[in-house]
Parts: sequence; structure tokens; C-alpha cells
Amino acid sequence: MFALRVAVPSDAEELSRLATETFHDGWASIIGEEFANAYAAEHLRSERLGAEIEEGDTHHFALATNAETGAIIGYGKLGLKRPAHESVLGPRPVVLQRFYVAAAGRGTGVADALLSACEQEATRLLFATLWLECDPRNERAWRFYERRGFIARGVSIYHYPNGFNDKIRIMERPITGGERTTSAPFAYPHKSPQDQNKAS
Ligand SMILES: CC(C)(COP(=O)(O)OP(=O)(O)OC[C@H]1O[C@@H](n2cnc3c(N)ncnc32)[C@H](O)[C@@H]1OP(=O)(O)O)[C@@H](O)C(=O)NCCC(=O)NCCS
Repeated sequence: MFALRVAVPSDAEELSRLATETFHDGWASIIGEEFANAYAAEHLRSERLGAEIEEGDTHHFALATNAETGAIIGYGKLGLKRPAHESVLGPRPVVLQRFYVAAAGRGTGVADALLSACEQEATRLLFATLWLECDPRNERAWRFYERRGFIARGVSIYHYPNGFNDKIRIMERPITGGERTTSAPFAYPHKSPQDQNKAS
């Protein structure tokens, strides 16, 4: 059993560990160990994630946790202010910037529940299209997105210190309203991120 909730700044350290491990799972075989480690050390360190969690009007982190232990087992992040890639066609787009589930939670429905949680928040903020970037060589992720109705659009190029990756595809789908696909307890506050910031 798992539960869903919005991240709070005190989650940053644990989230950083999970984010680093799962980033490695998704990307190391594609971009190489060295760059995967360097990327995680810079972008997924706990101080940075803590700051992003606090910037609730720019980033939104949805967490899946083990219902018994409370351990974080997956997360999705919406980039609320990131401009959409030029190939995105749908109206009012928002990027699903990160989407990662721990190995033990894969194939269990956690990813579907997280996707719904992200969509629910996006709907509340009046977005209508969810878009993301995925490398088709990450076959499991690619298949997950395809099976959930994401359509491939344009190509995005990632530049690394020692090269580039021109295989990244943009994918998008209309936000379906954020309906839940599991019976996991759902604990999203019905407040805007701005309100959450004011309250903290
Ligand atoms: C991407 C991710 C969130 C998807 O969650 P998940 O729980 O694994 O997803 P599901 O098991 O529901 O669906 C995966 C699909 O790929 C299939 N699959 C499983 N292993 C596979 C493999 N090695 N190669 C190809 N497809 C695979 C599954 O059968 C399933 O397809 P189906 O729905 O047709 O049965 C999760 O795998 C993950 O966190 N991966 C590592 C990090 C990552 O790559 N994140 C995405 C970055 S863009």
C-alpha cells in the first residue's frame, strides 16, 4: 500500500537520495555513469530540492510514500513556469519535469497514481496539457508514457560537457482531469502553492 502527498521542505534529504538513485536507473545507461553522477550531484542535491520545494509557485512535487513506513518511493515534479517546447500542440501546457519510482514500486500502480496526482494539481492550476521529455532508449519509461496516451512530438537536444544527446523526444497528452486510478489515500491540500508559501 502507498499514500500520496505534497512534498514539504523537510523531505529534501530523503527525496535527494531517492531522486539520485532513480535518476541513475533511468539515465546512466544512456548518458554514462560519469555525467549521471555529476548531474545528480548538482541538480538533485538536498539543498537544491529543499529550495525548489519551498518555491511552490514554480515547482510542484508530488510524493508517493510507503503507507506503513512513510518512506518516499516515488515522485513527480511539475515545472510550473517552464516554457513549453515549440513542438507541443495542446493548450495551456505544463511540463512533467521529473517522474521517478523506486525499483520496488515499479509495476505496482505507484506510477499511475503519481501521474494522476500531478494531473490533479495541474488541473487545479488551470493547465490543460501535460508534456515531458523522454529518451526512447529508456524503454520502460517510453512504454509507460505511450500506454498512457502520450503522443511523441519534436526532438530536444541535451548538451553535456563532453557531447550531446539528440534522441530526446517531446511527448504530450491532454490532461484528463486528474482522476485517480488507484484507491490509495489522497492527501492533497486544496490550496494554491502561493497560499502554501504564505502559510509556511
Ligand atoms: C518510468 C517509471 C516511472 C514507470 O513506472 P512503472 O511502475 O515502471 O510503470 P509500469 O510498470 O506501470 O509500466 C511500464 C511498462 O513498461 C513495460 N516494461 C517493463 N520493463 C520493461 C523493459 N525492461 N523494457 C521495456 N518495457 C518494459 C511494462 O510491462 C509496462 O508496460 P505495459 O503497461 O504495456 O505492461 C519507472 O519505471 C521508473 O521510475 N523508471 C526509472 C526512472 C525513469 O526512467 N524515469 C522516467 C524518466 S523520463
